[in-house]
Amino acid sequence: MTLIAQITDMHIRPSGKKAYGVVDTEAMLRAAVASIAAQPRSPDMVVATGDLTDCGLVEEYELLRDILKPLAMPVYLLPGNHDRRENLRLVFGSEGYLPMNGEFLHFTIEDQPLRVIALDTVVPGKGHGEMDSPRLNWLKARLDEQPDRPTMIFMHHPPFPTGLQHMDSINCRNAPAMAEILRGLSNIERVACGHHHRSIQIRWAGTIGSVAPSVAHQVVLDLKPHDDSTFTMEPPGFHLHLWTPEAGLVTHGVAIGHYEGPFPFVLDADYPGHTAKSAAEAAN
Ligand SMILES: [Fe+2]
Ligand SMILES: [Fe+2]
Repeated sequence: MTLIAQITDMHIRPSGKKAYGVVDTEAMLRAAVASIAAQPRSPDMVVATGDLTDCGLVEEYELLRDILKPLAMPVYLLPGNHDRRENLRLVFGSEGYLPMNGEFLHFTIEDQPLRVIALDTVVPGKGHGEMDSPRLNWLKARLDEQPDRPTMIFMHHPPFPTGLQHMDSINCRNAPAMAEILRGLSNIERVACGHHHRSIQIRWAGTIGSVAPSVAHQVVLDLKPHDDSTFTMEPPGFHLHLWTPEAGLVTHGVAIGHYEGPFPFVLDADYPGHTAKSAAEAAN
């Protein structure tokens, strides 16, 4: 069993500063952390799929480190287009999983039954991402190491289209070459992404592609052709990925926030036909 909480697109700003003048990203990430910590079954790890900070400032990464502190499980960070590799390395490099040499911040996580491969798709200074030859070669080499082991790939920029035209124009480029590597493999449980600030699923390259919602602001759902993007404060969330040998990978969406309940499934006294064996059976 492996349980992974995927959080994404936190866009942390220096304390007291709202992102875009609207979003209190610090408070929203603190709420996400509280929600993860309160899960009845504690995740084995948290993976954050980029746009960790809004501007890539050292001060922002230091605040991020402080916000994540209550989490008892390992937290793995990969960069998005709003991040700066050098500052991410500076603040989190001592944790040991980020490579301290070379250009890219790729890594693997090997200590759970489900193997994790984290890809750095960042093109510095650009909104879009890329899987160029060096990155494709690194991915292929990692996959060749353990071709039979259930594996989940995390990356910031989705390498597949989503119908959100503006976001798709800044997704991961050279995706067909990545799809070529994955197609035909039977051990890739998922390609899990961020960047689009919405919950999305697609069949892609012989596996399933998914995007987790942001723990902060969401991109407005607009599926007609358009070339600008706006955001909304609809409820934030994260994904809980549960892997078991019996079922493979199952993903649950979690809404962050406090909601009424839990309530027991109690039938009304005048419920028509008490034929169900239990209240839960009747309610479901
Ligand atoms: Fe983002
Ligand atoms: Fe992004």
